Amino acid sequence: MGDKPERRVAVFGAGYIGLVTGACFAELGHRVVVRDIDPEKVRLLRAGDVPIYEPGLGDLIARNKERLSFTLDLEEALDGAEVAYVCVDTPPSASGDADLSRVWSVVRSLAGAKDLKAVVVKSTVPVGTGSRVRAVLDESGLGHVGYASNPEFTAEGTAVHDFLHPDRVVVGASDETVARLVADLHRGVEGPVVTMDVRSAEMVKLASNALLATKISFINEIATLCEKTGADVTEVAHAVGLDHRLGPHFLRAGIGWGGSCFPKDSEALRQLASNTGYHLQLLSAVIDVNNLQKRRAIQQLNDELGTLAGARVALLGLTFKPGTDDMREAPSTVLASRLLAEGAEVRCWDPMARPGAAEPWASTTRHPTPELAMAGADAAIVVTEWPQLKEVDWAAVAGAMRRPVLYDGRNLLDPAAMRALGFTYMGVGRP
Ligand code: UGA
Repeated sequence: MGDKPERRVAVFGAGYIGLVTGACFAELGHRVVVRDIDPEKVRLLRAGDVPIYEPGLGDLIARNKERLSFTLDLEEALDGAEVAYVCVDTPPSASGDADLSRVWSVVRSLAGAKDLKAVVVKSTVPVGTGSRVRAVLDESGLGHVGYASNPEFTAEGTAVHDFLHPDRVVVGASDETVARLVADLHRGVEGPVVTMDVRSAEMVKLASNALLATKISFINEIATLCEKTGADVTEVAHAVGLDHRLGPHFLRAGIGWGGSCFPKDSEALRQLASNTGYHLQLLSAVIDVNNLQKRRAIQQLNDELGTLAGARVALLGLTFKPGTDDMREAPSTVLASRLLAEGAEVRCWDPMARPGAAEPWASTTRHPTPELAMAGADAAIVVTEWPQLKEVDWAAVAGAMRRPVLYDGRNLLDPAAMRALGFTYMGVGRP
């Protein structure tokens, strides 16, 4: 391999992870075919469109189009492929464990791939999945093909940058040849490659997300205590984060974490532990605190307004965080449902979200600007810290609302400035 590291890679799954992985590997010089089973997605990608919003991804795909193609066809994906990257989603099953059906369907489809040297799972899976994949490969006549786990740590909104400049690349493999092959695939990436056994690599992924979620729930509990004691959580988090042993990241108090990863992965890790007979007490509390956070916001708003019945409430931001169009497990969904259940009228603004026609969204209205969403409203909730909200003419909004009550669920705005404009301002953990 030494001087000629270009490989032929088949990436399975054209979701957030598969597209970023495929495009970044092409950027690193490899020949990549991304295969998905969704005809519409593949049609869009072939036409030069990107079916998701991820900054920089469209440019990367366009720039590497000579080395990057998209297909529905399994044989086309496997033709000459040396490495198969499994990037399909692993949503929660009815029991809360990860649903691996898509992973199995990809792994079983690999039998007969003549040039394959390694199968790599990037999808987030329970610890121990690698051994089961190994067994399926052996049964499929692919005993000579190596297996590796290569969990991903990219965050939506910065995924391309995170992939190419990672804090670390984790490779779990049972033999050195496949570990080296996967490490070499990442040549050009700016970050250390850490190799280990497969189960440890699988655990690194789940433990990392659980610890990040723990930091957020921890600061959210401190925020509640700040409200009760008159302290300001933004000051507390800033100073706590200056301790280099603790670090400044993931200490932003707010209405809680959402997204396609933390909710699913924390529940999957909890169930993984339960399946071994062990109760992960700390993680269970982390999940509880997160669920409470959104309900507390509605309760506080109810207390301020007297009742939510008949109140007109604007939700500012719907996606689970800014810089993405992803609505999966977005806190906004719980907020909208709770508000509707209390009899409120819900008006929404978001620059990117496509919430679809299902409830609760069918019972809400969409507005093209934050100002229009708030006009005539009794209260507004900052749900997602979109930078556009900093540019709003809040003085005009204060005059246009029926009651200028503002619940800043992301501590985005300056409390003193908002109060000076006439708002009843409520932040998370701010006096
Ligand atoms: C997360 C991890 O950060 C990635 O490392 C991981 O690869 C990814 O999950 C995954 O498993 O695929 P992501 O879900 O894109 O990435 O989003 P984050 O930026 O981590 O934010 C998650 C949630 O936490 C958001 O709802 C965000 O608003 C919230 N958050 C984040 C806070 O409430 N406070 C903070 O201080 C930070």
